[in-house]
Amino acid sequence: MEFQSDFLIIGSGIAGLSFALKAATLGTVTMVTKKSQADTATNLAQGGIAAVLAAGDSFELHIEDTLRSGAGICRSEIVRLVVENGPERIRELIELGVAFKHGEQGKDKLDLAREGGHSARRIAHAFDLTGREIERCLLLSAAKNPRISIRENHCAIDLLLASKAGLGPAGEQDRCLGAYVLDNHTGEIHTFQAKTTVLCTGGCGKVYLYSTNPDIATGDGVAMAYRAGAKVANLEFVQFHPTCLYDPKAKNFLISEAVRGEGGRLIDRHGRPFMTKYDPAGDLATRDIVARAIDSELKASGDDSVFLDITHKSADFVRRRFPNIYQTCLAYGIDITRAPIPVVPAAHYMCGGVLTDDRGRTSIPGLYALGETACTGLHGGNRLASNSLLEAVVFAHLAFCQCQADWPGIGASPHPRVPAWSPGQAARIEECVLISHNWDQIRRLMWNYVGIVRSEKRLSLVHERLLPIISEVRQHYQDYLLTPDLIELRNIATLAELIVTSARLRRESRGLHYIVDYPAANDREWKKYIVLRQRHPHEFLPVN
Ligand code: SIN
Repeated sequence: MEFQSDFLIIGSGIAGLSFALKAATLGTVTMVTKKSQADTATNLAQGGIAAVLAAGDSFELHIEDTLRSGAGICRSEIVRLVVENGPERIRELIELGVAFKHGEQGKDKLDLAREGGHSARRIAHAFDLTGREIERCLLLSAAKNPRISIRENHCAIDLLLASKAGLGPAGEQDRCLGAYVLDNHTGEIHTFQAKTTVLCTGGCGKVYLYSTNPDIATGDGVAMAYRAGAKVANLEFVQFHPTCLYDPKAKNFLISEAVRGEGGRLIDRHGRPFMTKYDPAGDLATRDIVARAIDSELKASGDDSVFLDITHKSADFVRRRFPNIYQTCLAYGIDITRAPIPVVPAAHYMCGGVLTDDRGRTSIPGLYALGETACTGLHGGNRLASNSLLEAVVFAHLAFCQCQADWPGIGASPHPRVPAWSPGQAARIEECVLISHNWDQIRRLMWNYVGIVRSEKRLSLVHERLLPIISEVRQHYQDYLLTPDLIELRNIATLAELIVTSARLRRESRGLHYIVDYPAANDREWKKYIVLRQRHPHEFLPVN
């Protein structure tokens, strides 16, 4: 079937929903989301959203913290743009009904938390369920809006390009006209046409064996954009969150950095704190430093985990401040008010993504990328804690402003005729093990070879090992009728290749990319982004 709307948004987290609510003032909006509408990374976000809201804080301090965390390669004009937009966007969320926690001082003052790398308390939060609260309010508003329709269980496969529809040449002038999308329930593949398409598919944590991300995080937006010829950048910078709950039965449960912000200490098996050995900021050093420190402690001790200890705070405070973490750990038999929490680092956030300008526009006309899917230049080599939700709402707003400015022309143009999806000779897959085995191979290889600490040897080995897997996946894609698992496998294979290619090119250590063969940053040569584009040689983009 063919569906037409003014805007097609792929993904239903904070970026997609924030944009949808504004875009609906211009035209019709279709959102497709591959599971249920709240299966998003936003929904799992615990910590909160950073913005300058306190009397003693300033834009300059937030900018400085973001630049320091970004290890010298943030785009400074983007950092300023995002930070200065922050307070207004938080006010909008509050107007939509987001119940951020208020402080003891009074109803008009938010309770602001602290996290690693921040020099002030500036994280607006809803206890340790901030993302869930934001997602709830945004979904509620979207549901009330007659111009927004959300299609759950619809998995985007590939972008629809004008050149592929025979409507012009491929290359710089090509235009995105929407996407081909699988209905997971019926197996049908529909054409979703749009005048503007927005990728908001979150990150790619599932490329790694252990991740804090929800199952949907398979890098779909980056993979689709790359295959369509868009520029992608900075993919070597994968952020590992230092503190994921270590328990064989727990699946990807994050222990928020806010726990350290409230005084939680990282200790080893013997109860010895270790972070000041690695950085004067101790437990509140930036994430790249804390994750590497834990990795080094685990390699030296041979232990399975380190521990995060908040038992010195009153039990009442811990239960009130971290209700979700308290209850979840209790379900695994850990009373965090009495015992330290076993934790390990896990893949958490993709700092690179589809390269955009200061309005969220990608290098393909008609295609935007927002949130974790985008590489705007805000995060540089290591994202500052709680800057991700901020970037998502700010860029959703900036992208909307751009669409509004372009709207008279774009809105008036009719949808062109485009071809329906053709399955070719594909047949139903009889042996799903072919798909699950490739999934497992890729995730294990990436975890063991392209993790927190890298080496040239492991990167070159992983490249050799990935190539036959990638060609096998391409063959499956030709041979078999598409399923969500196969679509996602194709995407994680693309992401794995892009991450490894970028990591092999950057011959220095910076932020999240630490490689033992080049252990120092090299500002003279490497203050630049590695930009990849299918069928083109890689490019370097200098940063100011
Ligand atoms: C956390 O709560 O530690 C995660 C927040 C973030 O990734 O910024």
